[in-house]
This record gives sequence, C-alpha cells and structure tokens, in this order.
Amino acid sequence: MSAPDVFAPATLGPIALRNRTVKAATFEGATPDGEVTDRLIDFHLAVARGGVGLTTVAYLSVAPEGRTHRDVIVLEERALPGLTRLADAVKATGARIAGQVGHAGPVANGRSNGVHALAASRMPSPLSMQMVRSASEADLARITRAYVDGARLLVRAGFDVLELHMAHSYLISSFLAPGLNRRKDAWGGPLEHRMRLARQVARAVREEVGDEVAITAKVSTGDGFKGGVTTDEGLALAQALEADRSVDALELSGGSSLMNPMYLFRGEAPVKEFAATMPWLVRTGMRTPVGRSFLRSYPFQEAYFWDRAVRFREAVDLPLILLGGIDRTDTMERAMEAGFDLVAMGRALLREPDLVNRLAAGRADAGVCVHCNRCMPTIYSEAGTHCPVIAGPTLARI
Ligand SMILES: Cc1cc2nc3c(=O)[nH]c(=O)nc-3n(C[C@H](O)[C@H](O)[C@H](O)COP(=O)(O)O)c2cc1C
Repeated sequence: MSAPDVFAPATLGPIALRNRTVKAATFEGATPDGEVTDRLIDFHLAVARGGVGLTTVAYLSVAPEGRTHRDVIVLEERALPGLTRLADAVKATGARIAGQVGHAGPVANGRSNGVHALAASRMPSPLSMQMVRSASEADLARITRAYVDGARLLVRAGFDVLELHMAHSYLISSFLAPGLNRRKDAWGGPLEHRMRLARQVARAVREEVGDEVAITAKVSTGDGFKGGVTTDEGLALAQALEADRSVDALELSGGSSLMNPMYLFRGEAPVKEFAATMPWLVRTGMRTPVGRSFLRSYPFQEAYFWDRAVRFREAVDLPLILLGGIDRTDTMERAMEAGFDLVAMGRALLREPDLVNRLAAGRADAGVCVHCNRCMPTIYSEAGTHCPVIAGPTLARI
C-alpha cells in the first residue's frame, strides 16, 4: 500500500482534517492579562489561511499557578467568549483548531504569577529564583479536576482537539522525570507511580469529553538531561496511554524548558536576544555560568527526533505526530512512508505562515527558516511572537 499524501484529507480521532499538517504550539505572546486578542486571532488566521490542517493555540493553563507567566490564558469562564471567537475564526477557513492544555509546574514563573509554582518535589526555580513547592494530594486532585473543567471549556468554545502537555518539564513531566520527582509516596519512585498523574489526567479528560473532540498528548522521546525522562520511559508512557485508550494520538517532542531548552529546538542558542528581552531576574541568571549552560546549543538536523520517533512507531499502534525540524516536502513524504500520521511544524510556520499552501502547490519544496531561534525570545516582546528575520513581509503576503 502506498503512503498517504500529506496534503490530502485525514482524520484525527473523531475529527476530519483537510490535510496532515499541524502548526505546533508556539507561545504567541499575544494574550496580555490572559485575554484573547485580535492579534492572537490574526496569528492563527495566518497559518490557517496558509493551508495548515490543524493549528494549535499554545499553552492554556488549567490553573493560575500553572501559567508560565502572568499573561498566559487560564481556562476559566471569563476566557470563553474570546476562545469561542478564536475557534470560530479559524474554523471558517477550513482549518481545525487545537488547544494545548497544561500546567507548567516548575516551569511556571511564580514571581510573575504572584503565586508560588508547584512541582513533584520542592526545588529552586532558575526562572523565578523562588522555591517551587511540592504538590500535595489536594493539589493533585484539584489540578486533575481543573484539567477536566478546562477541557470542557475548550469543547464549549468549539475547539476540535485538546493537546495535553506531558513534556518539557511541565507539571506532568516533572512527575515522570526521576531527577525532578523525589517523592516517597504513591506519586514517586517506580515508573508506574511517576506515570500516575499523566494517566489520571488523560483518563479523566477522556471520561469528560468522550469522542466529542480528539485528545492528543505532547510527550517526550527523551528529555536530554541527567534525571530527565528517558526514551524508554517515554515509550512506556506511550504504551500506557495506548492501553488506557485515553488519547487519539501522540505528538513526539523532547527536551526540557527548565533544564535544557535548546534540546527542544536544536540550532543556535540566541543568548544575547534572550538576555535583552527576559525579565530582570532571568537576565541575571543568564549571565551566570549555570545560566549560560542552560542555553547550550545542539546542532540542527532536519527531523532531529527521527530515530527515537521510529522507536515509538514500532512500539505503539496509536497515531503519531512527527515533530522537530520538519521543513521539507521530502521529509514529510518520508514520515508518511515510515508510518507517521501527521507532521507538525513550529518555526517553519512562524517564518512562513503560508508554507503549507506553497509546498502543496509545488511552488516550493522546502521552507526558508534558518533555525536561528531568534523567534524564541520574541515571546516576551511587545510585538508578540514573530520571526525577526522577515516577520512583516511574510504576514503581508497572506
Ligand atoms: C517561539 C516558540 C514558542 C514555543 N512555545 C511552545 C509552547 O508554548 N508549548 C510547547 O509545547 N512548545 C512550544 N514550542 C516548541 C514547539 O512546539 C516545537 O516543539 C519546537 O519548535 C520544534 O519544532 P520545529 O522544529 O518545527 O520548530 C515553542 C517553540 C518556539 C520556537
């Protein structure tokens, strides 16, 4: 049987997609005070009109202390009208819309949020220079409930897909990682215990929404730091989620926003730009040796999670979304041949929101993003997240 055409219609759980391309979550920096703005809508309209099958609204927090910083949207009633307007606008283009649902755990900036971050275990935060407290039983019950309520809110807003964030050292990932989880109770120790929160949350969300929408999880193929989630642990989680039937697909990521963010992206670390735009406390951290190693570079390679992703393909039957350094039509075709179901792109679409249309029409066979990563620090800029290389002209072309 020949491999599916990446630009032809497909399904994701109960959702029909016009093609197999996904805009990966890239925090938009367009929600001052946690409100949906026209700028956020325009951001997603650009990639939706640009041909993507599914666009992902980045990081929506289930609780106030789970925000990465104070401008992140919290999934509560007051967010409903804005999220509905956003979903309606995207769906009118023929694209579908996903919301990334999560709790940042130790990646939350407690100082910015005005409420202390929490994680599997107590630890100092390199982001806020505060102590992160250990989540109590009551916290975990409350947060699980908050995932369910947040999921329901997004369904009411008309979202098609819920992406549960289980990677990058966010809360669920901080439980999975043995180096971040030193608990002695039923949430720590053996992998079965460390996976408990991930499984509990996914099951509870599935129970709430059934097959009204698709549920995906962004999982780690390896965190890339000592004490982080290993590839084998990521595989075990994938198998557990498959056995639970709680998700419709997995998006394969890696790295840690807390310990080694560049492992997520590959390519040059934009240390100078980060130092210029991050809040003063973080800026101070970046000038220290620890801060600098926090932003060490990893060489860029097209489809850099490929080898590990193939191991996931062999280990589970669940639909898989390949992510990480996908910029070319031939890579997408190779992914389809290898049995991946969808391909997701972050930076390539920040650089060229209409890339999918151009690739599908054969007007190009590769994107022009150079992986300089200077888009990363723009998430903290006044203008919001953009490609500083040619952001203006690219958006104007749509
Ligand atoms: C500016 C920027 C912001 C990002 N924000 C998020 C985020 O909020 N949540 C998330 O899971 N990943 C985030 N990512 C990671 C991307 O989803 C993706 O995993 C990564 O960019 C690798 O894909 P790519 O090579 O196609 O860019 C972000 C990436 C960039 C460049």
